[in-house]
Amino acid sequence: MEADHYESAGNNHVSSTGIRAAFKYYKTNIPKPDYSNVLDLTVTDESKGINVVPVSISEELAKDFEGEHLRLATIKSRPGFYLLQGFFSKEEQLKWMVNCLHSYPENGSKNNVNCNSHEKLTDVFKTHGKKLRWVTKGYDYDWTSKVYPDRMTSQFPEEFQKIGKLVCGLLKLGDFCGDTAIINYYPEKSTLSPHTDHSERNLGKPLVSLSFGQSAVFLLGGVEEECATEAILLNSSDIMVMSKECRLCYHAVPKILKTTKFDANPNVPTDVLEYANNNRINITIRQCD
Ligand code: OGA
Ligand code: MN
Repeated sequence: MEADHYESAGNNHVSSTGIRAAFKYYKTNIPKPDYSNVLDLTVTDESKGINVVPVSISEELAKDFEGEHLRLATIKSRPGFYLLQGFFSKEEQLKWMVNCLHSYPENGSKNNVNCNSHEKLTDVFKTHGKKLRWVTKGYDYDWTSKVYPDRMTSQFPEEFQKIGKLVCGLLKLGDFCGDTAIINYYPEKSTLSPHTDHSERNLGKPLVSLSFGQSAVFLLGGVEEECATEAILLNSSDIMVMSKECRLCYHAVPKILKTTKFDANPNVPTDVLEYANNNRINITIRQCD
């Protein structure tokens, strides 16, 4: 399998515990992993320390979110980790995916297809399809030097700013001014290696991560690779937040799971519908400075 953009030298050592062992376990297809330990955060389960509560937002805000039954899931042993559910209707989820595929990769945005040539490509998704693996926005991340530039190098979408502020406000995580985003595209067999996100200059600010399309097994480890690791199911429309104690924890995506069916919709191009029904898209909204 092709290396992903978080894979780096030294990732191949063998261990039987911690996030690398869990990554290997869930990534493998033969034998098929047992998914019974993957946490389902849609329902409260006291035996696992999972608590799910309804969330209410002001009528003013509710206008922007057509989702239903907003819920907040937390895990007792993982302070700083939050999962908001029910924010986007199926229709909204498809709209976000239309933008992820047909708008964000355009207009000279930095992506894995043009990052070496710096060409201003158009119709990136139409031309490259599943070869599109990431797009950056705002402070465009340099995967080789692992540094963000010192100024915004591309436009930061307003809707990212809005959702980042809304979520951090709801969770009382203080001011949040998103300036950077990485959009990850996950074809069915793709993965994201264990890593921490420590390049942002302001590490006190949370990461706000949106999931669309098919589901993922998400691994949440600790601050060291060997720490105990949780496997969590992330579904389309979930908004995950890593803050405080969780902000610098290792995490990874070892598996995409087909769980969700999107029905044809006259406002959604067929290539987007096909993508949504077979692949996953993740947007992480960050505050670099
Ligand atoms: C990232 C990341 C996780 C996901 O972009 O840094 O960890 O859920 N994404 O895809
Ligand atoms: Mn990450």
